Amino acid sequence: MKKFLIIGASFFAIAAVPFLSAPDDPAIPPRVRATFPASWRFQAGTSASFAPHAMVASDSRIAAEAGAEILKQGGNAVDAAVATGFALAVAYPEAGNLGGGGYMVIRLADGRVAALDYREVAPLAASRDMYVGADGKVNGESVIGPKASGVPGAVAGMLEAHRRYGSLPIAKVLAPALGLATDGFIVDSVFNRSVGQAKYRIENFAGRATFLKSDAPPAIGSRFTQPALARTIKLIADSGAVAFYRGSIADSIAAEMQRSGGLISKEDLARYRPVWRQPIRSSYRGYSLISMPPSSSGGTTITEMLNILEAYSEPAKFGSADEIHAVTSASQRAFIDRNAKLGDPSFVKVPAELTSKTYARAIAKTISRHRADPTTGLASQIREGNETTHYSVVDRFGNAVATTTTINDLYGSGVYVSGAGFFLNDEMDDFTSKPGTPNMFGLIQGSANAIAPGKRMLSAMSPTIVLDPKGQLLLVAGARGGPRIIAATSQIILNVIDHRMSLADAMSAPRMHHQSLPDSVQLEPGGFDKAVIARLGEMGHFVYERGGVAGAAAIMRVKGGYEGMDDPRSRGGAAVGY
Ligand code: DON
Repeated sequence: MKKFLIIGASFFAIAAVPFLSAPDDPAIPPRVRATFPASWRFQAGTSASFAPHAMVASDSRIAAEAGAEILKQGGNAVDAAVATGFALAVAYPEAGNLGGGGYMVIRLADGRVAALDYREVAPLAASRDMYVGADGKVNGESVIGPKASGVPGAVAGMLEAHRRYGSLPIAKVLAPALGLATDGFIVDSVFNRSVGQAKYRIENFAGRATFLKSDAPPAIGSRFTQPALARTIKLIADSGAVAFYRGSIADSIAAEMQRSGGLISKEDLARYRPVWRQPIRSSYRGYSLISMPPSSSGGTTITEMLNILEAYSEPAKFGSADEIHAVTSASQRAFIDRNAKLGDPSFVKVPAELTSKTYARAIAKTISRHRADPTTGLASQIREGNETTHYSVVDRFGNAVATTTTINDLYGSGVYVSGAGFFLNDEMDDFTSKPGTPNMFGLIQGSANAIAPGKRMLSAMSPTIVLDPKGQLLLVAGARGGPRIIAATSQIILNVIDHRMSLADAMSAPRMHHQSLPDSVQLEPGGFDKAVIARLGEMGHFVYERGGVAGAAAIMRVKGGYEGMDDPRSRGGAAVGY
């Protein structure tokens, strides 16, 4: 049976296309409709957006439209990713940014791959114990205010990606973002609510004059313009990243830091460089993965987890106690390694074994079929032997880009660069402020991720590209949500490969998370049968049902084109294409 779906309604000509549940390309196995418990908030069998040629999926519809406009103008996936990134900085400032950093994984249609690390670095004036007070306790300065920011990498990174792989002039790529900042956009309920929720964070700093005029978030239906940000984007379009790192924008950042007592200096900005890295290449049951190496933990942790699962057993039924036990036990083990061993590769030696199949086989043997193991026991045993946004892009040539970018919390540190018009991150909290003390995501990390001047803080961001067994592009995915990014991204991959779900089902399926410490399994409420939860308890898992596990944005190749979708858990996102 064919269902029909309306695509591109908000932006491009409306077209009706068949939703294909059984592509006849043998490399794309037929999808099997998922079954979710009646108590789960999303239904199985819904449709993603479809586009025959090219597509952007993002947490912001406005930014996805900006990227799609560049694709339509003949830009490639990297042009569109950069256009989307800058548009996010304007229209989705809770997470989109010029004052943060990110990671980009690229796979070109000719098979070349690349990974760009434009993560923030600790300022030169940072030190290992800078957030530990005289009482020995971690203070709150890594999460709010001027001392929370790492040196931003976003502008350098996006311009470097464009320099190497872009095809349109940068001024053309930045035009949609410039237009959005200059002419403004209409405030919707999502933006209004987002600013309202972060009022406590914004109101103490210079962003108050733009975001909290009359002490309230911009009114729904009003037009929101950002003239200072427009000037900044124009300067970057005219002079490149140098305007940000050495020119008048650098002056504004340094002045803001001096005014408020922050650490980032002009020297920090002048020294910042994005780094091209070899992506992690791994495989899972015949499919190939291209993912982000350290300084993000995302690719390493997902690879270790999937390798363990592949070695452990054939996939159990989705939502069964056996499946949850396998996935969360593999995640627990991979996070133990992540939290203890990973850090910026310029500062710590990352053990190569973490992504090896041999190592994963040995770990898989430690997972009992019937019993959960406490993290404390495993950690020694193994040693011996909110805000981020992800977007996915494909172009009509078959190039693919997965990008995740962040300022960590909603509106970052709250500090807003006067005159330049953007928020600075609070990424310093991703470092280990004090070994054994949890950060804002409850992650307990080790000295490999200790603070040092010029060092990148460990991330969980996981932009990932999956190829089918024939080596053709299948999936472009990633998420927001701190360590839960790893859970969401890996489970979308498992849902597509192991459970043959459609993209919409794979994104809507209930998720689980285990990050080793706290030693517990988080399940999304209502997503799993009560009997299954009871069984997990009998096996020794500490299970709790809470919240949403991350928010993803993904694109999947299907017959005749692409399906794309922003996470149904998020509001205001879209996949837009033509
Ligand atoms: O890099 C990281 O892992 C974190 N700074 C990501 C933060 C995040 O995803 C918050 N968003 N919801």
